Amino acid sequence: MQTNPFGRTDRAVTRIGFGAWAIGGTWGEVSLADAKATLHAALDAGMTFIDTADVYGDGRSERVIAEVLAERGGDRPFVATKAGRRLSPHVAAGYTGANIETFVDRSLRNLRVDRLDLLQLHCPPTPVFADPEMFVALEGLRAKGKIAHCGVSVETVDEALMAIRQPGVVSVQIIYNLFRVKPAQEFFREATAKGVAVIARVPLASGLLTGKMTAASTFAADDHRSFNRHGEAFDKGETFSGVPFEVALQAVEELRPLVPDGATMAAFALRWILMEQAVTVVIPGAKTPKQARANAAADALAPLPQATMDAAREIYARLIAPQVQHLW
Ligand SMILES: NC(=O)c1ccc[n+]([C@@H]2O[C@H](COP(=O)([O-])OP(=O)(O)OC[C@H]3O[C@@H](n4cnc5c(N)ncnc54)[C@H](OP(=O)(O)O)[C@@H]3O)[C@@H](O)[C@H]2O)c1
Repeated sequence: MQTNPFGRTDRAVTRIGFGAWAIGGTWGEVSLADAKATLHAALDAGMTFIDTADVYGDGRSERVIAEVLAERGGDRPFVATKAGRRLSPHVAAGYTGANIETFVDRSLRNLRVDRLDLLQLHCPPTPVFADPEMFVALEGLRAKGKIAHCGVSVETVDEALMAIRQPGVVSVQIIYNLFRVKPAQEFFREATAKGVAVIARVPLASGLLTGKMTAASTFAADDHRSFNRHGEAFDKGETFSGVPFEVALQAVEELRPLVPDGATMAAFALRWILMEQAVTVVIPGAKTPKQARANAAADALAPLPQATMDAAREIYARLIAPQVQHLW
């Protein structure tokens, strides 16, 4: 699989990585055997980047990753985790060096490592991105050898632009997909200029952009696609990319004819993201080995023709932009 340098670090990662939220929790039942087999399949396909967080399944995702990597041995992939969401209440004042260090120590134990490859602040409240003390504290964790690098995960383009003004931030994780194009319009050029790695998350709009959903689709009660459509538990943009379900289904039908012959719609959606040079790695989630392999296959797709890019942009502008462009 093709690789990209990970921003200003000395690491390189495959441009398609693995999003490990669903193998942790909040996506309905995924058995331990399926979770492990899915991650093995992603790594067998050549992926060398994994994104997780301490709260995914309350640490289960991190522990599954540790178990799978122990079983495999050999070269370790780059494992990015996140901290902050264990705070309760989740408020800016909780983002102190001491609290983050406590969370980091737990992630070190879960992942069975001495040092985290990348610690990302996990979509903190906006003021945290402007707090120099938080970033000084992260630098302290780096000096202690507990983290190799620090980055941020953000909800909005404005937060991304604030975050990359802080010294030491090597990466920004942001939602970027066929239904969320603002980062390309207003952020990617700045990230590239500063050598900041960009991690594109929710690339399949929570599965919508695989083209498999219909108005009759249902989801388990413990799947965020049941309980967070309006932001009841966390930012609504994390569920279906914040697009109302019926509108999204119509856009998917209009996108379907653009899928290259022989490709899945999921691979098309991922390849569309990779057309943007500023993206370092795209991190589709998966719950089965088949899904992980299908997502890895996007790496082999040819660049999309300009006419396809233009048609996708028109669908976004007409159907999706009025729903989301002003929000994130
Ligand atoms: N705040 C944050 O920092 C934050 C928030 C969200 C996500 N993330 C990260 O970004 C990653 C990716 O986002 P995401 O997992 O939310 O959404 P996503 O990648 O857009 O969608 C993943 C879901 O789509 C379905 N799917 C995946 N590949 C498929 C395929 N080839 N064919 C058919 N269905 C497929 C699976 O669910 P079903 O089979 O059940 O449909 C899978 O769980 C996460 O895993 C996580 O690492 C971070």
